[in-house]
Amino acid sequence: MAEKKIIAVVGATGAQGGGLVRAILANPAGPFAARAITRRPDSDRARALAAAGVEVVGGDADDPPTLRSAFDGAHGAYCVTNYWEHMSPERELRQASAMARAARQSGVSHVVWSTLEDTRERVPLDDARLPTIQGRYKVPHFDAKGEADEVFAREGSPTTYLRTAFYWDNFIFFGMGPRRGADGGLVLALPLGEARLPGIAAEDIGKCALGVFQRGAELVGKHVGIAGEILSGPEMAGAMGRALGQPVQFLDVPFNAYRALGFPGADDLGNMFEYQALYEEEFCRSRDVALSRSLAPDIQSFAAWLERNAARIPIPGTAADAEAPPPA
Ligand SMILES: NC(=O)c1ccc[n+]([C@@H]2O[C@H](COP(=O)([O-])OP(=O)(O)OC[C@H]3O[C@@H](n4cnc5c(N)ncnc54)[C@H](OP(=O)(O)O)[C@@H]3O)[C@@H](O)[C@H]2O)c1
Repeated sequence: MAEKKIIAVVGATGAQGGGLVRAILANPAGPFAARAITRRPDSDRARALAAAGVEVVGGDADDPPTLRSAFDGAHGAYCVTNYWEHMSPERELRQASAMARAARQSGVSHVVWSTLEDTRERVPLDDARLPTIQGRYKVPHFDAKGEADEVFAREGSPTTYLRTAFYWDNFIFFGMGPRRGADGGLVLALPLGEARLPGIAAEDIGKCALGVFQRGAELVGKHVGIAGEILSGPEMAGAMGRALGQPVQFLDVPFNAYRALGFPGADDLGNMFEYQALYEEEFCRSRDVALSRSLAPDIQSFAAWLERNAARIPIPGTAADAEAPPPA
């Protein structure tokens, strides 16, 4: 049997990278083997990967030499940053740059960089439609990723720019699930400005990434935008209501009201939703459900995701809600 090509996966203990590792494991006859990169090889999640037969190595995007050795000998590298852990776009850019450099130095043949748009290309800093955040960003957790696209291009490893979409898992983990309206009924409140929202099951991002590695050279240098389905607020609320067995009404929250909610990142997320509404057509067009399905044929629709996950969505006034995490 031919030797497997190693895909070194940053974020292997997390949602995106974990999905990729599981997709590789689910395809034992395929050409790839996963190498999980983690800052904590002795964590429970890392140990579970090792127990599943995955090579686990130490690597920290804040410590560039460790990335270099984690990428050495790999055919591919999946690169993802976790903005929400520190909420510093400068640090996110440094981490992404360290990955791009390590990939070049290690001679990796294919990088998949998990990215988002630099919103400042359409809404420059002096454009008052969106408030400027931290002095030089419109949507910090998008902009630094988009800025890093150029760094990957400059470093020169063959790179595919994987544009991800809103995780439906946010309805479980990110405090975005339904709440009770004044009449006691469930309300899905999001600032969409009547725009449709490309969404995806976080787990499916890794499946699409595996599809990108499988296609190889054909997708090098390309931006590949993925989504499981693109739905309006009322469509999401309707599907959620059917899955929960009780009606869910959609409430379109004004962008300013959302930005003013005051939780860490509320301004960033408020701007993100307003950017998506301002550029709905381009934003949706750059995330292609048919292409995503061709990369990962079993990618889930929202209804399919709900069928598996509705019971995990915290519902106010129930025991599950009491255990739910606070908004990030
Ligand atoms: N939520 C959404 O709707 C959404 C949509 C699109 C994109 N995103 C983006 O997705 C990214 C997060 O990805 P995720 O959801 O897969 O994250 P996650 O599930 O929270 O896991 C974070 C992963 O990043 C790894 N990590 C963090 N800092 C690291 C470092 N310095 N060096 C090496 N590894 C590091 C962690 O590994 P260890 O702890 O094991 O080291 C962990 O595996 C964010 O940047 C966010 O902007 C989110």
